[in-house]
Amino acid sequence: MSAVIEAKNITKIFGESPETAVRMLEQGSSKADVQAETGQVVGLNRVSIAVEPGEIFVVMGLSGSGKSTLIRHVNRLIEPTAGEMWVNGRNVLELNESDLRTFRRNELAMVFQNFGLLPHRSVIDNVAYGLEIRGAEKAERRKKAAHWIERVGLAGYEESQPHELSGGQQQRVGLARALAMDTDILLMDEAFSALDPLIRSGMQDELKTLQRELNKTILFISHDFDEAVKIGDRIAVLNDGAIVQCDKPENIILKPADDYVAEFVRDVNKARVIHVGSIMEKDIETPCDHNVVGAASCEDVLPLFAEHDWVGVTDEFGQRIGRITAKRVIAALARHAA
Ligand SMILES: Nc1ncnc2c1ncn2[C@@H]1O[C@H](COP(=O)(O)OP(=O)(O)O)[C@@H](O)[C@H]1O
Ligand SMILES: [Mg+2]
Repeated sequence: MSAVIEAKNITKIFGESPETAVRMLEQGSSKADVQAETGQVVGLNRVSIAVEPGEIFVVMGLSGSGKSTLIRHVNRLIEPTAGEMWVNGRNVLELNESDLRTFRRNELAMVFQNFGLLPHRSVIDNVAYGLEIRGAEKAERRKKAAHWIERVGLAGYEESQPHELSGGQQQRVGLARALAMDTDILLMDEAFSALDPLIRSGMQDELKTLQRELNKTILFISHDFDEAVKIGDRIAVLNDGAIVQCDKPENIILKPADDYVAEFVRDVNKARVIHVGSIMEKDIETPCDHNVVGAASCEDVLPLFAEHDWVGVTDEFGQRIGRITAKRVIAALARHAA
């Protein structure tokens, strides 16, 4: 499978003379060293990611770790100091001005943290805005906009003004506007970070539900590890502009690459994320009077241990692949509780 978005060894130095900074990074200097010695700011340090078709790929890290810098390379709002960005099989750094404009209009849609709505336009005109820029006829763009407004649960609000809506509703407008563009790629930079926790959690669920049907390639930026774990098929963790780990959420939780990642992992609800298939014994002989699938979470199987000393684990076709005991589950959770 070829990647939809591929960053190849991207370094971004903010400053007038980046050559020394690039050399220092190559020799292993840290972002702080580079800044102290050269006064240049390291935005990204040799970042490579490959986002596969149909996945939600989350880039996660503390504020200032380089998340926005990375996502802005995808549509070339930022040019790298070194490295390449490939999108849909094309090197975006080689696009001329007019191709770049077409590329931004037709191949990607973006959802922003602060909604980015036009304050004096109604909801429907906000959602239709991108289509208008693209030159779509009025009737067509209103029809599409109305469809997406309904899909994000805002039917009836078409003629409302943004200021009449709650934050969560405004972000639904932002999402509808991006979806109305009908692009395969969605870029979301901390799209839910400004929302209250409950609203935010609801939006995460909805994005997942929509995604099951739309199957877009989504690059999602977050500073919140719980959010990353909940919606990400894979997570890349950024620290000081460099990727320190990139893997499925469960693998990151089971094996954080360093203390920075471990700190994020500490407070996550592991019982919900760790699947029994990852921690089972590969025992397919011992008889079991109850079975679960390997994709079941520890949280799913815990209640079963009130009745059973162990349960069988099967694949999705019902074929036995192992066995899980209460002891194993507790050990896995305890190991990661420290
Ligand atoms: N235009 C800029 N000029 C100078 N430094 C910048 C610029 N944009 C970002 N930076 C620096 O690059 C680093 C990464 O920033 P950013 O990508 O915005 O982080 P995040 O989105 O993870 O909070 C930070 O140290 C930030 O100060
Ligand atoms: Mg940011």
